[in-house]
This record gives sequence, C-alpha cells and structure tokens, in this order.
Amino acid sequence: MAILVTGCFGYIGAICSKLLLEQGYEVVGIDNLSRSRQRAELEGMTFYQSCIQDDVIEEIVTKHEIDTVMHFAAFIEVAESVEKPELYYENNYLKTKSFIDKLAELGVKQFVFSSTAAVYGMPAGNEPLREDRPLEPINPYGENKLAVEKYLQEKSSRSDFKYIAFRYFNVAGAYGELGEEHDPETHLIPIALDALLGQRQGFKIFGSDYDTADGTAVRDYVHVVDLARSHINALALFQEERGLNEAYNLGYKHGFSILEILEAIERVAGKPVPAEQAERRAGDPDALVADNTKALEIGLLQPEFDSIDKIIEDALAHRVKFHANKAKAL
Ligand code: UFG
Repeated sequence: MAILVTGCFGYIGAICSKLLLEQGYEVVGIDNLSRSRQRAELEGMTFYQSCIQDDVIEEIVTKHEIDTVMHFAAFIEVAESVEKPELYYENNYLKTKSFIDKLAELGVKQFVFSSTAAVYGMPAGNEPLREDRPLEPINPYGENKLAVEKYLQEKSSRSDFKYIAFRYFNVAGAYGELGEEHDPETHLIPIALDALLGQRQGFKIFGSDYDTADGTAVRDYVHVVDLARSHINALALFQEERGLNEAYNLGYKHGFSILEILEAIERVAGKPVPAEQAERRAGDPDALVADNTKALEIGLLQPEFDSIDKIIEDALAHRVKFHANKAKAL
C-alpha cells in the first residue's frame, strides 16, 4: 500500500511527502514540473513526471497499490485566476474531477484535498470563520476549489469514495531546505523577507484603510509543518472511519496584521524591513481568521509551531539558503 502525492515538488506537497517518508510511509509522487523543480530532499520517493490526467495514473495506482491520494497539484495564484479564469476552470476543476472519477474507478477510496480559505470570499466582520458559514468565493481560484469540494461531497454521497478537504489559511514557514519558492512570488512573508535581505527593492504594504485595528489586512498564518501533519493525521481518520467527507479549516484562530508581521520580522531578524505604504490590492478581504475548533476537536490539527516568530525564523533560514543556492548556480 502506498500514498500518491500529486504536486509532490510544490511547496506544501514536498513538505508533506518529506514528513510521510520520515514516518516510513511508501510515497509515490507525481508532478508535471510546470511550476516546480525536482528536489533531492525527497530521496526514497518514487517519482513520475506526470499530469493527473495522464494514462500513466492507471499504471501507478495498480503497480504501487495506491490506497490514498493527497491532491496538492493546482495553480495557486488568485490574480492569475482572475486574468485567466478558463485556465483555473480547466486545470483546478475539470482535471481534478476526471482524476477523482479515474481513481474511484481504479478502486482508490481515500482522498485528501487541498482547498482554501478563498472559498469564504469577502466575509463581513473580523470574527473567526466556521466551516459552516456561507461560502461565497469572489475569484475563480476560490470558485474552482469550492466546485471540487462540492463534487467530492456529491461523489461520496453516492459511493464508498471518502475524502477530507482542508481549507488552508495563510500557509507559511519552511521545513529545512524545503520552503516557498514560487515564481513569481506573491506572498507576504517571502516578499518581505526578500526586501529585508536586499533581494528586492522595498516592500509595499497594500492598503492602510482596512477595517482592522491598525488598518492593514489581517490573516491567519499557519506553519507549513503543522499543516502538512494534518494530512498525515487524516490517514488515521480514514482507518477509524470518522470525521470523513467533511471540510476542515487549517489555521490557528489567531490573526496578524501586515504591520504585526513586519514587527515580527524585525524582532526575529534584528533589523527592519524597508517598507512603504501602497494602494490596496484588488479583492483582498479585511480579515481571514480560521475558527479551527472542528480540526482541533477531531485531532486533525495538533499545533506545535503556532508562533509567528517560529514561522518567520524558519522562513528566513530557508530564504537565506534559497538565495545562496541560486547565487551558486549562476
Ligand atoms: N501583501 C502586501 N504586500 C505584498 C504581498 C502581500 O501588503 O507584497 C498583503 C496582501 O495584500 C494581503 C496580505 O499581505 O493583505 C497577505 O497576502 P498573501 O498574498 O500572502 O496571501 P493572501 O491572503 O492574499 O492569499 C492566501 C493564499 C491564497 C488564498 C488566499 C485566500 O496565498 O492561495 O489566501 O485564502 F487564495
């Protein structure tokens, strides 16, 4: 029996694969390498360069006796999804739907899906968000993730296919050499760290008139290792047949404003990020904070690294190595 990880060389897929390997699981990874690169850190994983719709999936599932799939592969840029909605509909929804059908046909019954807090859209108020609140995504990225959640719900109601969907809040931090290496990078913490390290000119704070205590947007930053471990904890729930066919928020129920993140970076690094105020970025909600009660109570989320300083320390250490390796490669 083995676990198939899609997007195994992406930020979260790679860290989850690494943790699975460390715990002795047999891991088979697929990645089309369109937005990632092969990583030596995942020694011991059987790798296929493949897309989720390729014919080789059938061979992989049969040959490796795959019983569980963790599906990380997806495009992840909100702004790109607004510019090219058809790309996100095709890649993140249609291909995933066919993949799920194919897996079910091949007898795979356990599926872990990477969903997103973007399914909540622009929630009014700053209260932590429960999973059962109205789902009103405002961009194709969120819409297509929600469409997959709905498809999974429907599929599991009429067959023995079972799933757990995780709604990620703001995933950050690193695990050793494995960390965020998006190209282009759009996320707050790596961008601010690059400004600190002199790898980009200045940092722009998008908006100062949000309905939050200091006027900058608030997010719930969750350490990637805690988040990846939730996927491993899901394996126990499949075995025990409890808590299945549901969506769970992954966050710490603690929001930080952009200014608080910049303060934390200064505290950790001992020097300030050169920052300037700029216009709002379109489509950014005031605050997105997870009500994580559901994931905590069932044991899916077991926070160990829920300290913003730890998240930043790990992200910073990774960023320093990342730039050093890039310089060496030139
Ligand atoms: N920000 C800046 N300057 C920057 C980059 C970001 O001020 O250079 C701000 C953003 O405007 C936002 C906050 O920092 O207010 C966090 O932005 P990120 O881009 O890091 O994260 P988002 O909350 O926009 O996006 C995350 C995930 C998406 C997901 C979304 C909604 O990365 O995949 O949450 O759940 F869709």
